[in-house]
Amino acid sequence: MTTSITNRSQVLGAAIALLILINANPVHADDPSLYERLGGLPAISLAVNNFVDDFIQDPVILANPAVEEKKTPEAAPYIKFQVTALLCEITGGPCEYTGLSLAEAHDGLNVSEQEWDRMVELFIDTLDSLEVPEGEKEELLGLLGPTKDDIVVTSAVESS
Ligand code: HEM
Repeated sequence: MTTSITNRSQVLGAAIALLILINANPVHADDPSLYERLGGLPAISLAVNNFVDDFIQDPVILANPAVEEKKTPEAAPYIKFQVTALLCEITGGPCEYTGLSLAEAHDGLNVSEQEWDRMVELFIDTLDSLEVPEGEKEELLGLLGPTKDDIVVTSAVESS
């Protein structure tokens, strides 16, 4: 019968369209998270460890007196712990970040654009030294980007 053939081909057409749609969607529920692709906590904590060690010795970063005062070797293990937990959480890992909000943690440090750019450079150097693939590196940097507004002081307030 014409009607039933039409119905059947419509159903088939819809099913094919659905399959195409599902396959065209790049994000599948069972795709590994960025956390997993980076290598989980062992890899993330190693990257944070190396990065913070470089960061607290860097002349551009240390030129900021407020940062120099706080980013001491004694403070490093705690900062490493918190940054690791944060990165674990935002990359889809099983951690819960319990530290200060980024705005609170960096309040009064007067972090400049130049210091931010240097921090990004150091972070990229760390990821390159650990041979983190380009795609994962870009994703990670993409997650850090939006935190800039909470960390960098864009306008030096000089009231006349
Ligand atoms: C140039 C950029 C940055 C500078 C100069 C900087 C500097 C600092 C300093 C000095 C502290 C210690 C504050 C204190 O003990 O009172 C700190 C804490 C911290 N920073 Fe940064 N930071 C920068 C970027 C970032 C970024 C990009 C992240 C992560 C997205 C981050 C995450 C944290 C965390 C989680 C803490 C600890 C918060 C807590 O005490 O609970 N920082 N940072």
